[in-house]
Amino acid sequence: MEKMAIITKDLTKVFGNIVAVQNLNIEIKYGTTYGLLGPNGAGKTTTVRMLNGIISPTSGTALVGGYNILTQAKDVKMICGFLPESPGLYQKLTAKEFLEFIGELYYLPKTTISSRIEELLEIFDLEGRENDLLEGYSRGMKQKVCLCAALIQDPKIIFLDEPTSNLDPAAARMVKDLISDLAKKADKTIFICTHLLDAAEELCDIIGIIDKGTLKLQGSPKEIIESQNAQDLEEAYLKIMGAKRMEDLLAWRENGLKSEVPKKKEKKRRK
Ligand SMILES: Nc1ncnc2c1ncn2[C@@H]1O[C@H](COP(=O)(O)OP(=O)(O)OP(=O)(O)O)[C@@H](O)[C@H]1O
Ligand SMILES: [Mg+2]
Repeated sequence: MEKMAIITKDLTKVFGNIVAVQNLNIEIKYGTTYGLLGPNGAGKTTTVRMLNGIISPTSGTALVGGYNILTQAKDVKMICGFLPESPGLYQKLTAKEFLEFIGELYYLPKTTISSRIEELLEIFDLEGRENDLLEGYSRGMKQKVCLCAALIQDPKIIFLDEPTSNLDPAAARMVKDLISDLAKKADKTIFICTHLLDAAEELCDIIGIIDKGTLKLQGSPKEIIESQNAQDLEEAYLKIMGAKRMEDLLAWRENGLKSEVPKKKEKKRRK
């Protein structure tokens, strides 16, 4: 078996005049939990969509599970689980019907589909609601159904784009534990895009930080923290991204307020 679950070679995506991802070169070993971090618009979702064969790169390529995303996109889709950032759900289906449909797309036997659905609904605490239409589900419940869909064929490689968004704290904790279990006990390769730096620090073996489509830094959370002489990943990330200090922001706000006050008084006096 090949050692690398994901290899990208100069992976690039351009939308009009926006370079969303530029010459991305990463190698992820099987069994690794890889976290792609970066600000809004950095290129995380675009990367994941290319790696799942959903959109084609403008140039470069990648191998996912040994399959080429350009020429074997169908095989890539068959071996990967994918939680999209903005999943589309068939609102007029029940959760059970939707998951059965997804299971059938993977050509899973009916008995496997039934047992997997039962198992996943129990994990995600959705038992008893499986026959309700998805249009009546809360945002977090929909997110849970999408996570079930991403896991239904027990994929070797799992892509999760913001897996805990919309989830309540207990459900978010459960998803983090599930990710940890999938990595440690089931030896899955997991690729996560997230803004939750504490979760990334806890779960990821390797972290890549991407900004404006370019990979700025990659390493274990410990390596990244040490490289920035920081206490934790959040501090390291903010140093790398050159975040403005809160004091500067507040000073700006204070100055802004001070300069606004006389103008308001001026207006009142004129009345
Ligand atoms: N279909 C598209 N058409 C045009 N531009 C796009 C498209 N998809 C993404 N982009 C652009 O590519 C860049 C990267 O977007 P992407 O969604 O990959 O960012 P992201 O890192 O996932 O951000 P976020 O943290 O907000 O989810 C952005 O400038 C975005 O506007
Ligand atoms: Mg995104």
